[in-house]
Amino acid sequence: MKVCVFGASGYTGASIYKLLKETTDVDVVGTYLTEPTMFDDLYKLDINQPESFSDFFKKAQPDVVVWSVMSGPNEHELVDQGLMHLITHLTLQTKLVYISSDFVFTEGKGPYDEEDPMSKLPDDHLLAGYANAKVKAERFITKELSNYAILRAGPVYGENKIGKLDERTDKLAYHLRSDKRIAFRNDLVRTFVHVDDLAAVTVEFVQNDVTGVYHAGPDENQSFYQFMRQKAEEFGYDMNLVEKDSEEEIVNQEVPKNTSLDTEKITKITKQNFR
Ligand SMILES: NC(=O)c1ccc[n+]([C@@H]2O[C@H](COP(=O)([O-])OP(=O)(O)OC[C@H]3O[C@@H](n4cnc5c(N)ncnc54)[C@H](OP(=O)(O)O)[C@@H]3O)[C@@H](O)[C@H]2O)c1
Repeated sequence: MKVCVFGASGYTGASIYKLLKETTDVDVVGTYLTEPTMFDDLYKLDINQPESFSDFFKKAQPDVVVWSVMSGPNEHELVDQGLMHLITHLTLQTKLVYISSDFVFTEGKGPYDEEDPMSKLPDDHLLAGYANAKVKAERFITKELSNYAILRAGPVYGENKIGKLDERTDKLAYHLRSDKRIAFRNDLVRTFVHVDDLAAVTVEFVQNDVTGVYHAGPDENQSFYQFMRQKAEEFGYDMNLVEKDSEEEIVNQEVPKNTSLDTEKITKITKQNFR
């Protein structure tokens, strides 16, 4: 089976790529844009460039494509250009495994299951670029394709397979190491998923025939404050250094409160245990 991982240099993509390389009967190619990380066999590709995308894809001819690409405020370009190029190149037999986000539920009244309607943020909202592009991408995929799996994830954390920690827990560890206090919001509730659990379930979806939309993660939902206190304790630091952050927000920049995910559906079809 030939698999292509777009975004193999990224935090999540690196774990997916490494895991696929260790999987028998899988021939994997991966791409990066600016940072080849520790892999020396990734292809440099701007997914938004039609000619180079087409050249790459025709050579790669994958059976399965994993989308682990992210570009923050430029996420719309990735959908309008990169994802569109990809979709026009996919055959009926090629499966797309698309990593999506809990931010498709911008009303923040979770927990959400897979059937709940997605919503967008006002265009002038700070997070609209990323969140609305994810909604657009999912709508595009479900309309145009049948052979796809969308895996939605909440905040991804932990050390990935090339030793990189996510920015939030890295910042936490940095503060606690020097006995500095750090504050996190207690009103923002999420389903935190470990990067290697997300990578492992992605690899499962690469290998199985399951299609549709799935929420990936444990059955426990926590606020950032609760999650970070727990991590502080696990890292062996004083958890009391983790404090509650102010919940005051600027109008039109309110962060969706509860985007937690009901993960019951995925637990019925996966052998992966989410920590
Ligand atoms: N991190 C989270 O907490 C989180 C939560 C929910 C969902 N997700 C989803 O998980 C997936 C991976 O996220 P991540 O955190 O691993 O992101 P990341 O570390 O920022 O990695 C993003 C990847 O996209 C590549 N990329 C960006 N623009 C590109 C372009 N124009 N052409 C080709 N490649 C491009 C980057 O390449 P270079 O690094 O080489 O520039 C990198 O490999 C995304 O779909 C994201 O929406 C992440």
